[in-house]
Amino acid sequence: MSISAPKPRDAFASTLGAFAATLGSAIGLGNIWKFPYLTGSHGGAAFVLVYLLAIAFVGIPILVVELTIGRKMRLNAVHAYGTVVPGQKIWAGVGMAGVAAAFLIMAFYTDVAGWVFAYVFKSFGAFLGGRTLDGATFGALAGGSWEPLLWQIGVLVLTTAIIATGVSKGIEKVTKTLMPLLFVLLIVCDIRALTLPGAGAGVTYLFRPDLSKLSASIVLYALGLAFFKLSLGMGTMTTYGSYLPDSTRIVPNATRVALADTAVSLLAGLAIFPAVFAFAGKPAGGPGLLFNTIPLIFSKMPMGGLFTTVFFVLTAIATIGAMVSLIEVPVAWIIEKGHVTRPGAAILTGVLMFALGIPATLSQNPLLANVKIFGKNFFDLFDFISSNVLLPVGGLAIAIIGGWFLTRKGFAAEMNKGYAEEPWHGRLVYGIIKYVTPVLILLILLSSLGVLKLG
Ligand code: TRP
Repeated sequence: MSISAPKPRDAFASTLGAFAATLGSAIGLGNIWKFPYLTGSHGGAAFVLVYLLAIAFVGIPILVVELTIGRKMRLNAVHAYGTVVPGQKIWAGVGMAGVAAAFLIMAFYTDVAGWVFAYVFKSFGAFLGGRTLDGATFGALAGGSWEPLLWQIGVLVLTTAIIATGVSKGIEKVTKTLMPLLFVLLIVCDIRALTLPGAGAGVTYLFRPDLSKLSASIVLYALGLAFFKLSLGMGTMTTYGSYLPDSTRIVPNATRVALADTAVSLLAGLAIFPAVFAFAGKPAGGPGLLFNTIPLIFSKMPMGGLFTTVFFVLTAIATIGAMVSLIEVPVAWIIEKGHVTRPGAAILTGVLMFALGIPATLSQNPLLANVKIFGKNFFDLFDFISSNVLLPVGGLAIAIIGGWFLTRKGFAAEMNKGYAEEPWHGRLVYGIIKYVTPVLILLILLSSLGVLKLG
C-alpha cells in the first residue's frame, strides 16, 4: 500500500485549540442523550459508578495511547496503525474496524441529531403558540418516515460541509466558542430541576448505588459508553492526535478532557433525573428520555419555551463537533490514500452514511418496527455492535499495541513530550495501559458473551 505524502497537514493552532477540539469530539449526544438514557434503563447509580470506573481505568488510558500514537505517526488512523509496529501491517485492522464503526455510529447518531434539530424548531413553535411539547410529539417524530429522514439529510449536509472546509478552520472555531454556553445552560437546567418538589429522589437514584443491581450487562454497557463518550477505540482520537502540536502534554490534556466531559454528563443527569422523579415519581429510560423531559423541566419556568429552544440549539451545536470527528476518520483515510480531494471524500462519506442511516432512522416506523436481528431493531443493533463490540475490541488492540508492541522508551518519549524528565503520572498511566486496561476490557468482553446469548 503506498502512502502518498500527506503534506501539508492541517494542525490545531495551539494547545488550547487542541483541548477544545478534542473536547468538541467527546461532548455530544453521548452526554446529553445517551448517558441519561442508559443510566435510566440500567438501574441508576450502580451504572454511573461502573461508568466512572470505566472512564478512569479504561477511558483515560486509551485516550492517552490514541493521542500518543496519532501524534507520533501523524497519519490517518488506518495508516497510523498499519505502520506503527514495524513489520506488522495487521494492526491496520484497528483503523479499518474504526472506519466501519464510524459508519455504524453515524447511521444512528445522525438520526438522533436530526431529532435534536427538529426539536429546535418544534420547541420554538410551541413557545410562540404558548404550548408545551409532550410525549406525543416525540413519538410522532421518531416513528415517522419522511420527517426524520429529511432532518437526517439536513444534519449530514451540514456536517459534510464543515468537514469539507478543513480541520483547524472548521472544528476549532465552532467548538471553542459554544461549549461554555452549553455548560451554563445545563447549570440553569440543574437549578430548576433540583428545586422541583420531589427532586431528591432523582439525586438519590443517580448517586446512591444499589450494588445488587450490578450485572454483566450493566458492566458491558458502561464500558461501551465510556468508549463512545470519549470517542475511543476507532481512531477518532488517533486522528486528532495527529493534529496535536508537540507542545501539548498528553496525559494532563487527556485527563482534563475526560473530567470536563464527565462533568457535562453528570450535569445532564442532574437535570433529567430529579425532573423525571418530580414529574412521574419513577425512573425512566428509552431514547425519548431527553426529548420528553427537557421541555417539561423548562415548562415550569418563566420563558421556559424559549429556554427549551436555546437548550436544543446548543445541543445541536454539540452534536456537530462530535459528528465532524466521526466523519473525519473515513475522510482522512480516503484523502491520504491519495486519490480524492477533501470535499470529494467528505461527500462520498456523507452519502454512504445516509444510506446506512435509513434503516436506523426507520426502525421505529411501523414499516421496520418488527424487523429484529438478535432481538434488536436496526437502531439498537448498530448502537450495540459499534459501542459494545467494535469500540471495546478496537480499544483492546490499541492498549495492547501501546503497552506491549511499542518500546516503552519510544512510547514514553512521545507521551511525555513537553517534560524534561518522565513525570510520575506518565509512569502511572503507562503501568495502567500495560497491565490494567487490557485485562479489564478482556474480562468484560468475555463475561458479556453470556449477555449476548440472552439478548
Ligand atoms: N463522543 C461523542 C458523544 O459522546 C460521539 C463520538 C464522536 C464518537 N466521535 C466518536 C463515539 C468516535 C465513538 C467514536 O456524543
